[in-house]
Amino acid sequence: MVRRVLSEWTDPERVAEYLSREIPHRDVAESLLLEALPRRVGRVLDLGTGDGRLLALVCSRHTGAQAVGIDSSQPMLARAAERFGSCTTVELGVHDLSQPLAVSVPFDVVVSGLAIHHLSDERKRALFSEVHALLAPGGVFANLDLVVSATPQQHERFRRAIGREEDDPADCLGGLCEQLGWLRDAGFREVDCHFKWLELALIVAVRALDE
Ligand SMILES: C[S@@+](CC[C@H](N)C(=O)[O-])C[C@H]1O[C@@H](n2cnc3c(N)ncnc32)[C@H](O)[C@@H]1O
Repeated sequence: MVRRVLSEWTDPERVAEYLSREIPHRDVAESLLLEALPRRVGRVLDLGTGDGRLLALVCSRHTGAQAVGIDSSQPMLARAAERFGSCTTVELGVHDLSQPLAVSVPFDVVVSGLAIHHLSDERKRALFSEVHALLAPGGVFANLDLVVSATPQQHERFRRAIGREEDDPADCLGGLCEQLGWLRDAGFREVDCHFKWLELALIVAVRALDE
């Protein structure tokens, strides 16, 4: 039997497969992400929002925040639209993150969940600069994402733990230390990893108040 590789987020089957999968310790990482955000969040942007899971968590903690979720996948955005229904504070839009961000109004917070590892390292670096420019002074970028494992054995362990039989050919994992360095190069302060379990890492970076 030839197993079809589900590598495109335009494929509803892949979307359904991802949304049905459990990722161990993700809820802990998401709680820590919420803790890393400023006390007051007026505007939040979610990069690669998918079905809006992370955006919904931020909005439930910061009720009334104006929220924007962008993603290149129509099936994912349809799931997000179902989640948010007629909520007037959430705006969803199509955008390919391999292209420069097309939003210009400042945000207090930019978040992303398991999306940026689909971009090339070169694009990740450029995106980090775009996010820095988009944040208001004191704004926070919180990226819960997959990073390169310390060893091939750890990679195998992670893959098994999330229930995948094979690597995802669309993955382009960056190194944790490299990404922390790219965020500092982009001008961020207080750059740190707040949580890590195998390949799952929460990276938080703050735009300085005095810029
Ligand atoms: C693993 S899902 C994560 C979804 C959601 N953020 C979450 O936390 O569950 C990855 C998401 O990134 C999106 N994505 C992947 N590459 C993208 C790109 N180049 N531009 C925009 N979105 C992209 C996919 O469509 C998908 O919704």
